Amino acid sequence: MSVTNFCSADAQNASAPRAKVTFQTLQEKKQHGQPITALTAYDYSTARLVDEAGIDLILVGDSLAQVVLGYDTTLPVTVDEMLHHTRAVRRAVKRAIVAADMPYGSYHVSVQEGVANAARFMKEAGAEAVKIEGGRNRAELVERLTDAEIPVIGHLGLTPQSVHRMGGYKVQGKSMAAADTLLHDALALESAGAVAIVLEGMPREVAHHVTAKLNVPTIGIGAGPDCDGQILVFHDLVNLSFSKPAKFVRQYGDAAGLFRTAIEGYLQDVEKREFPNESESYHLTKETRAALESASPLRRKA
Ligand code: KIV
Repeated sequence: MSVTNFCSADAQNASAPRAKVTFQTLQEKKQHGQPITALTAYDYSTARLVDEAGIDLILVGDSLAQVVLGYDTTLPVTVDEMLHHTRAVRRAVKRAIVAADMPYGSYHVSVQEGVANAARFMKEAGAEAVKIEGGRNRAELVERLTDAEIPVIGHLGLTPQSVHRMGGYKVQGKSMAAADTLLHDALALESAGAVAIVLEGMPREVAHHVTAKLNVPTIGIGAGPDCDGQILVFHDLVNLSFSKPAKFVRQYGDAAGLFRTAIEGYLQDVEKREFPNESESYHLTKETRAALESASPLRRKA
C-alpha cells in the first residue's frame, strides 16, 4: 500500500488501526513530500502517549541524561541506563519505530565495541535502530552496523556529545566551508548505509541543501522547516525541562504548571485533612465494624 493511500484511508477513519511504521515508510514519506514526525520519550507512560498520538519515530535520546537524570550534559549517561529506558519505551510502543541513542563512549573506542554495544540495544531492549553522532569519522562503524543488520540513524551539526570540542552548544555549518563539510559528512553516512540523518542546530539553508542532496530522509531539530521531518525533546515540548527553551523549541503545553497545581492541591488537602474523604475510604461491613469497636473503641480525631 502506498503512503498516500495509507494516509487518506486514515483521514477517512481516524479510529482505524494504523500500520506499523518502518524505515521504508519514512523513505516513502520523503518521496511523497510528507513530513516525518518524531519525538523523544524515555519511559512507558509518555512513550504510550506519543505512540498513540501517531508519531512516526520515537527516539530514546541520550538527552535523558539532562531532562530525566539531571546531568549538565549528555556525556555521563551509560549504556545500561539507556538500555533500561529503551526497554520501558519498547513495552509501550506498538506502531512507531523505536530508536535508541548510543551514549558517549559506547562507540568511540573501537568499531568492534560500537557494534557489540549497538547489538545490545537490539537484542536486550528491542530497539529497531540506533543513532550515533558524527560524520565521515563514523562511516566505517555505520557500514559495520548495517552489515550486522542494525539500522543506523546518523546525527550531524550541533552534536551534543561534542559539546567540549565545539566549545558549547553552538549552531554549526555557518561558513561555506563548514556547510560543505556537513554535506560531505551526510553523503558519507548515506553511502555507508545510514537509513536517516538527524540534522541539529544549523542554518535552515544548509539543512535544506543537505536534505535535497540526500536520498535518505533528514529529521531536523533547530535546522528549519525544510528537512523531511522534525524531532523535539519531549520535555521541551511540554515545558518540563527547567531551562530556558532554545530558539527552535515551541512549547505545546505546560506540564510543569499542570504538575505544580496538582502537587500543591494535594499538599493543601492533606494538611487540611480534606484528603482522603469518606468516598475515597474503604469500609468494614456494619457487623465487623461494631465487633471491632466493641473490642477496641476507635479514638476519634479532633
Ligand atoms: O538525545 C536527543 O534527544 C537527540 C535529539 C535528536 C532530539 O539526540
